[in-house]
Amino acid sequence: MRTKIGQSGMVEVDGPPSSPRRRRRPRLRSVVVTGGAGYIGSHTVLQLLLGGYKVAVIDNLDNSAAIAINRVRELAGDHGPNLTFHQMDLRDKPALEGLFASTKFGAVIHFAGLKAVGESVKKPMMYYDNNLIGTIILLEVMAAHGCKKLVFSSSATVYGWPKVVPCTEEFPIAAANPYGRSKLFIEEICRDIYQSDNEWKIILLRYFNPVGAHPSGYIGEDPRGIPNNLMPFVQQVAVGRRPALTVFGTDYSTEDGTGVRDYIHVVDLADGHIAALNKLSDASIGCEVYNLGTGKGTSVLEMVAAFEKASGKKIPLIYAGRRPGDVEIVYASTEKAERELNWKAKYGIEEMCRDQWNWANKNPYGYEPQDHTT
Ligand code: NAD
Ligand code: UFG
Repeated sequence: MRTKIGQSGMVEVDGPPSSPRRRRRPRLRSVVVTGGAGYIGSHTVLQLLLGGYKVAVIDNLDNSAAIAINRVRELAGDHGPNLTFHQMDLRDKPALEGLFASTKFGAVIHFAGLKAVGESVKKPMMYYDNNLIGTIILLEVMAAHGCKKLVFSSSATVYGWPKVVPCTEEFPIAAANPYGRSKLFIEEICRDIYQSDNEWKIILLRYFNPVGAHPSGYIGEDPRGIPNNLMPFVQQVAVGRRPALTVFGTDYSTEDGTGVRDYIHVVDLADGHIAALNKLSDASIGCEVYNLGTGKGTSVLEMVAAFEKASGKKIPLIYAGRRPGDVEIVYASTEKAERELNWKAKYGIEEMCRDQWNWANKNPYGYEPQDHTT
């Protein structure tokens, strides 16, 4: 008996052609996605639904809006009913226990966490409480219910200021702030858990710089307050919410003096999670790390030029000094993910900027009907 994804995106189970009674109802794989209302989570939930998964999203909506879930459901069409939303905080252990007791889940993709580097420096305990305690409680509940397959959102931030690029998964890891340390600690916790109980199968995905939006322009990134990251800021300048982009640092040892990063389309990143989920079924997998990037470095000025081309909008620039804690050049080695996950990013910066602009143009205030920026 073989399974395949049918045209409808549902998982079909093949029986002998002459015996229709052997055809079974599709058995959907059931996955929990923590932080599934957020930027990367919402795009991943959509790809999961379209791939025939049944998805239970857990999110406290601390940095997201329920409307994102509704839009994912709509985009998923016939697969929309396979999405359930559970507004809860990961640290609410009884609530989490209730969910895991009610359904047998095959795996968890764990996005939920706080992610603003500057805020983490000012409020380290808030970051340790949310990111570490939330993860520990999740892992405890998963183990108690025999769900021992995990994909975790780590970050290229754990490479710090790399001595050389591209960054391979074997590079030493370090953290420069409490946010980065929370990622590093969780990676170590996962390695320890696997050492203590090798029934666990864990994939740690180190994301580089996710940008862009779903090509429909219906879901995308909607940061609260002043955006910390480059492309959300650029998009807010383009729609007239902010007067100019401040370029942090023009004296780096790069071609045009601005910082270089590995920008990756969020849909490619989402697909990387499906590849990781598939890999969790490999008998050989224990606790493994994979970079998710494109392997290409792009400077701030190159990114701004690509966005101006895609949008037809001029982005006024203010040149300023380096942002404390920023690194010069970071991009990924993609070989391990290509080889072992059979995954490779498909989109370049033109598509990233095209889709970022499409989202911004259709939703100038994100999921809000008007400006609530503080
Ligand atoms: P996001 O803020 O849009 O999504 C995170 C979601 O988690 C939000 O919807 C938030 O409400 C939810 N959440 C936070 N704490 C929670 C808790 N205790 N209980 C339940 N829900 C909670 O962020 P994102 O950009 O989608 O990032 C997802 C993950 O990827 C994060 O762990 C982040 O650190 C990591 N990551 C992001 C980037 C990036 O540049 N966006 C880069 C590397 C790694
Ligand atoms: N930049 C500006 N102006 C801005 C914002 C950013 O010039 O207003 C520059 C930065 O100096 C840097 C580049 O744009 O050179 C990218 O900055 P981002 O803040 O978009 O991204 P970072 O690489 O600094 O950090 C992001 C996340 C981290 C994550 C890391 C790797 O914020 O949490 O990517 O995934 F760890």
